[in-house]
Amino acid sequence: MGSYALQGAYFPIESDIDTVERQLPSTSKGKDMQAIVTTGDNDLTLAELGVPVPGPQEVRIAVDAAAVNPVDVQTRRGIYHQLGWIDRSRVVGLGWDVAGRIDAVGDGVGTWSPGTYVVALHDGLDSPTAAYAGYVVVPESAIAAAPTSTDAVGAATLPLNALTAMQALDMLGEPDGRTLLVTGAAGGVGGFALPLAARRGWAVSGLARGEDEEFVRASGALFVSTTPPARTFDAVFDTAALGAQALDAIRDGGRYVGVIPSSGPPAVRGVEVTAVVVHHDGEGLAELVRLVDEGMLAVRTAGTFPLEKALDAHAAFERGGTRGRWVLTVSENARSIP
Ligand SMILES: NC(=O)c1ccc[n+]([C@@H]2O[C@H](COP(=O)([O-])OP(=O)(O)OC[C@H]3O[C@@H](n4cnc5c(N)ncnc54)[C@H](OP(=O)(O)O)[C@@H]3O)[C@@H](O)[C@H]2O)c1
Repeated sequence: MGSYALQGAYFPIESDIDTVERQLPSTSKGKDMQAIVTTGDNDLTLAELGVPVPGPQEVRIAVDAAAVNPVDVQTRRGIYHQLGWIDRSRVVGLGWDVAGRIDAVGDGVGTWSPGTYVVALHDGLDSPTAAYAGYVVVPESAIAAAPTSTDAVGAATLPLNALTAMQALDMLGEPDGRTLLVTGAAGGVGGFALPLAARRGWAVSGLARGEDEEFVRASGALFVSTTPPARTFDAVFDTAALGAQALDAIRDGGRYVGVIPSSGPPAVRGVEVTAVVVHHDGEGLAELVRLVDEGMLAVRTAGTFPLEKALDAHAAFERGGTRGRWVLTVSENARSIP
């Protein structure tokens, strides 16, 4: 087993290699893989280690592509280590979004078999390895058959952001003639929330930058520029985490759904304040895949980097100014449509 820190032009990183090597799991069954791990000290390490073994009701996916999301960057920066959501001394894998091919199944898995192309959400912050890896293990209840209208790069942009949008809308219930404002409407989560909300019958508006107006309107929403009107909407899904400013846009007694569970704005004027916490849901993901294949949901990619350039992908994300996800290509199948 070996590992080495990724030194990037954008982050002068001093990785604690000893800590990383001590904690990497030894689960090899005669097969090794590369995986990106972090100590949460702004480091990324490319490690060589044994592939994870699927337990009961779990499947192992040979990863073709894994998207880069804010949660990965936040984990690398140590936000969750500092919050105590990840043990401070713990080395963890990165990557929640995966597209690939089932490689092995654990006991009791009946529906899925090796060779099937799938997408999945690998949820959880403190796994020793995750989707930025040659192989990842997820519960069988987390997977759905891959879309047939896009390659693994496009498919990998779907699970985390679309499931978050779907589950936030579930929290808001039936629209019943209500109005909804989605902030961050051109972002990863917001970009899925707009068409999903419009499809459910919400009168939906999207708050976004001026340059995103066309995207918002094409998604079936009215466009709202960066300062929302006060006390106007029945509900807000605040993916831009504007907090009190977004809350101010809600009518008395309305609903606020945030994306940061630990720091929502204080409830005022009878507005109910909650936050979505995304969880894996293979059935919901299958519905989202169907919507992609029907052309109702669009996947957006900013570009790709090979797995070993994960640090460059994080830097590209942090520079901002792009729409769609940066995606790590892990195998030569990343650009193939299943
Ligand atoms: N709780 C959960 O389960 C869960 C799940 C998924 C994501 N999240 C969180 O949700 C948040 C959004 O995720 P994401 O993937 O959608 O991020 P994203 O792709 O970066 O999208 C955020 C969008 O908000 C826009 N924005 C930010 N401030 C704005 C402002 N003042 N006015 C107009 N637009 C503004 C950004 O525009 P610019 O790029 O121009 O700044 C960007 O388009 C992140 O904090 C993420 O960690 C939480």
